[in-house]
Amino acid sequence: MLRSKIIATGMYVPPRVVTNNDLAGIMDTSDEWIRQRTGIEQRHWAADDSSTSELAFEASKKALENAKMDKSQLDMIILATLSPDHEFPGTACFLQRKLGVPGIPALDVRQQCTGFIYAMSIADQFIRTGMYRNILVVGAELQSKGLEKNDNGRDVAVLFGDGAGAVVMTATEVKDPKKDPHVLSTHLYADGTFAEELWVAAPGSANSADRIGGDDLEKKLHYPHMNGKLVFMNAVKRMPEALETAFKQNGITMEEVDLFVFHQANLRINDMIAKQFGIPEHKVFNTIQKYANTTAATIPIGLDEAVRAGKLKPGMLVASAAFGSGFTWGSAVYRF
Ligand code: UT7
Repeated sequence: MLRSKIIATGMYVPPRVVTNNDLAGIMDTSDEWIRQRTGIEQRHWAADDSSTSELAFEASKKALENAKMDKSQLDMIILATLSPDHEFPGTACFLQRKLGVPGIPALDVRQQCTGFIYAMSIADQFIRTGMYRNILVVGAELQSKGLEKNDNGRDVAVLFGDGAGAVVMTATEVKDPKKDPHVLSTHLYADGTFAEELWVAAPGSANSADRIGGDDLEKKLHYPHMNGKLVFMNAVKRMPEALETAFKQNGITMEEVDLFVFHQANLRINDMIAKQFGIPEHKVFNTIQKYANTTAATIPIGLDEAVRAGKLKPGMLVASAAFGSGFTWGSAVYRF
């Protein structure tokens, strides 16, 4: 049976650490509020001359190195981001240029916090059909340049960080599904009813005369706006639903999963899901404390950190789930 598997991971965060206290110096917030409400202790912010594709490039190099794969063996690049280098072309094209692999398809995925699960699912489909063998799947975000870093934007600005994670997915012949590494299934969802509950309105073609103009800047339409409570309520409902569907489809139980690598939006969201399912603490791998919410990058960063911490080993069964802007959500179950 032809399937895809993750053969290596890599990650990169820019060197500058910004603590909660650093933020309290520039906006009306506190270390206590941020820790209590979110679990975040610090995040990384990129330099002014950096870009999403540069963070992606650094993470990708590590993933390729860990895969012991030459870049010339890649058949495709899929990159998930909500903070692209430019409006167009897609950031995957800039990453492809940095990697020096002209010719292969380079696809951007714009599914925000669920971006990596969508990207992984797309890669899985291309590999299952036999169209491609080796796909670089990346989640990368440079959020800090897009945040309103003052009292007005504090509800969102404290939540996000910069960083990138990458995995190399490759074709594999699965003989024993109970043992052989492979992606068992992915499950994708969206509900555009809630599109404006977490969004950046401008620039965009739905705006009146220009993509950005008039009083858009004064109205702060170029910054993210979020209905935090609604997002939270939906996340704790939709992520468990997506996990349950994945378990049912594969005939596995929660207990069989060795490690849960969830999206990192809020430690309280992940704690609530773990409690709901009775998942022991040591089976949930969180990184939000160090990196905050890096949107599409949280899951590949989590995988790479877990590998390097010795918590994720070959043969382990992993489950991931994410929820975010769109609303979009999804899950994936894979043997590592
Ligand atoms: O990745 C997917 C996208 N994001 C999410 O999944 C986030 C989901 N939502 C959340 O995680 C939470 O809703 C937040 C962490 C964003 C907010 O937590 P909350 O417990 O829902 O707080 P709140 O929005 O109800 O705000 C409580 C208070 C408000 O003050 P009043 O009205 O009670 O006086 C806010 O003005 O906290 C205030 N507040 C802050 N105070 C200090 C909001 N942001 C801050 C801040 N520092 N940064």
